[in-house]
Amino acid sequence: MPLGHLMQGAPHADTPGVTIATPRAYELFGAVCFAGRRDRAFTRLAELSGAGRGDRVLDVGCGTGYLTRHMAARVGPDGTVTGVDPSPPVLAYARNRKRRTGSACCTYQEGIAESLDLPDASFDTVVSSLMLHHLPEDLRLPALREMRRVLRPGGRLLVVEFRPPKSRLGRHLVHGGAGHAMAHNRVDVLDGLITDAGFEVSGHGDVRPWLYYVQARRAR
Ligand SMILES: C[S@@+](CC[C@H](N)C(=O)[O-])C[C@H]1O[C@@H](n2cnc3c(N)ncnc32)[C@H](O)[C@@H]1O
Repeated sequence: MPLGHLMQGAPHADTPGVTIATPRAYELFGAVCFAGRRDRAFTRLAELSGAGRGDRVLDVGCGTGYLTRHMAARVGPDGTVTGVDPSPPVLAYARNRKRRTGSACCTYQEGIAESLDLPDASFDTVVSSLMLHHLPEDLRLPALREMRRVLRPGGRLLVVEFRPPKSRLGRHLVHGGAGHAMAHNRVDVLDGLITDAGFEVSGHGDVRPWLYYVQARRAR
């Protein structure tokens, strides 16, 4: 069975998104895929988010809280980082990691990207890594619109996605290990989708080995 299938959970009542039920398998998958470069890559993503000391940050589809904890280090003790995910097992894992690593400003809540149970304009920065490809295509724009709604005017967005390898062999290997959604992930449409959701895209690029990111702002 492909390793990617081990981390997928049963369908969730509130979302058709693919949730993760086995956080340890996901962490193992992450360690293998990043081949020792995961911490460096996510430290760079936290920098690219543009969040500063004292900011209120939201991490949508936070999973095991890997980026959430990197964001907590970035905003410091006066900031807050809220992680949202529909999967209770990954949230339990993230809360336990929080106790062990002492990232005191992280809190986690169950929720779905396409209908966030959070007030309008309540965050300075929204980040979301490797989540959008877990949603059916027709829910990606509603999810991005929700991220815009909860950002304050002038607030920043960082969306990160898996960039499939260009070679057919590379895509074949990803398909076998992680499934169709990752092997055929359309990062080329991400900038347009974020613009359609009402953001101003301010930058994009790659973080090695596999990540593509888009930076954007909510203008008003
Ligand atoms: C590949 S994991 C990424 C986790 C984490 N952001 C990271 O970078 O390691 C995708 C996450 O999206 C979550 N997810 C699936 N459907 C979702 C939805 N409708 N709303 C928010 N998150 C969702 C899954 O439960 C899973 O934790």
